[in-house]
Amino acid sequence: MKIAVNARNQAYTFDCEAGEKILHAGLRSGVALPYECGTGTCGTCKARPVQGQVGDEWPEAPGRGSLRPDGGEILMCQCVPLADCTLEVGRVVNGMTPGLCVPRRVEGLIRGKAMLTHDVLSMELELSAPLDFEAGQFMLMSAGSIRGARAYSMVNFAPKAERLVFAVKKKPGGRMSEWLFGDEVTGAPVDLFGPLGAATFDPGAGKNLLCIAGGSGIAGMMSILSRATRERHFERHTGDLFFGVRTRRDVFFLDALAAFHAHAAGSLSVTVAFSDEDVDPEWAARYPQLGFGQGFVHAVAAEQMRGRFANVRAYAAGPPPMVDATLRMLLREGRLTPDNIRYDKFS
Ligand SMILES: Cc1cc2nc3c(=O)[nH]c(=O)nc-3n(C[C@H](O)[C@H](O)[C@H](O)COP(=O)(O)OP(=O)(O)OC[C@H]3O[C@@H](n4cnc5c(N)ncnc54)[C@H](O)[C@@H]3O)c2cc1C
Ligand code: FES
Repeated sequence: MKIAVNARNQAYTFDCEAGEKILHAGLRSGVALPYECGTGTCGTCKARPVQGQVGDEWPEAPGRGSLRPDGGEILMCQCVPLADCTLEVGRVVNGMTPGLCVPRRVEGLIRGKAMLTHDVLSMELELSAPLDFEAGQFMLMSAGSIRGARAYSMVNFAPKAERLVFAVKKKPGGRMSEWLFGDEVTGAPVDLFGPLGAATFDPGAGKNLLCIAGGSGIAGMMSILSRATRERHFERHTGDLFFGVRTRRDVFFLDALAAFHAHAAGSLSVTVAFSDEDVDPEWAARYPQLGFGQGFVHAVAAEQMRGRFANVRAYAAGPPPMVDATLRMLLREGRLTPDNIRYDKFS
């Protein structure tokens, strides 16, 4: 089916397969349609069909709350065309930046998983074809009869990656995460679409790195640190990573973070912030190279970064309230400009 998109600045046309989400068809055709979560929660991908019919695969999507109440708008990440369609998108839409990894569909096989904490696991997927992605990006994953896709950020980084590593937090009653924590998962096939997301690390930007993560939000930061280490970024720039968790039983990746710290020879500081309990002296003794603080991660970061926001590009990821508090802190206290703040809300 043919989709025509009239954006504020330009018109585009692209093909969409039967059953394919309009957002996916546009992105894989190199049209940078607006989106943020890709999973029906943020409302960024709204459009108004002016001709042709679409089918809404998730009419109860929370992102519909930000659509105009006249019922004339849709979420492109949840809708499939039922015929040739013309849509109006009330934003400037550009072609994808040359050199950017164009999203596409790829199949994956879950090759193994390991528990990182009582409710976070690490999962490795083997891909049907190598995939390029930017550090900090995520994939949409669909599996079996679970309705809809879920976003998961890559933990690893490698050009032409043949495997992806994710860190998944269990959401009580959550359909995908409960399935991933079950026994039948190893060897299971999944469908992936990506890479997606704009919270990407660009070593060429010449910026000091500030990463603020809550819980499984650390996933994409590991990918960013991996790439920064590969590119020898910390020979020329500083890095500060803040990892917020509730209690000591929620901490993971500390050995890997200590290894990044050691590799950066003093240019990367890593601080773990506990929101719900005091710092355990045993942890501090076990990881003398890491810092530990008490409080919400954005507050611990604000305190330690005071006077050090010059030439910083900041990344934030995790639960939406944590990301919102971090964004306010970066704008008000850090006085960072929006182009130097990149984030993913794990909604
Ligand atoms: C950009 C981004 C990156 C993320 N990265 C990570 C990560 O690295 N690690 C991690 O643990 N979590 C991550 N998340 C959260 C993750 O995508 C899931 O929301 C979480 O795992 C809970 O999924 P669930 O199926 O267990 O819960 P559920 O409550 O069953 O579903 C949660 C989400 O799935 C989607 N959904 C639910 N029902 C439907 C339906 N009928 N049709 C279509 N969609 C539906 C919605 O987006 C909903 O918010 C990320 C989220 C975003 C937006
Ligand atoms: S991108 Fe469609 S609702 Fe977030």
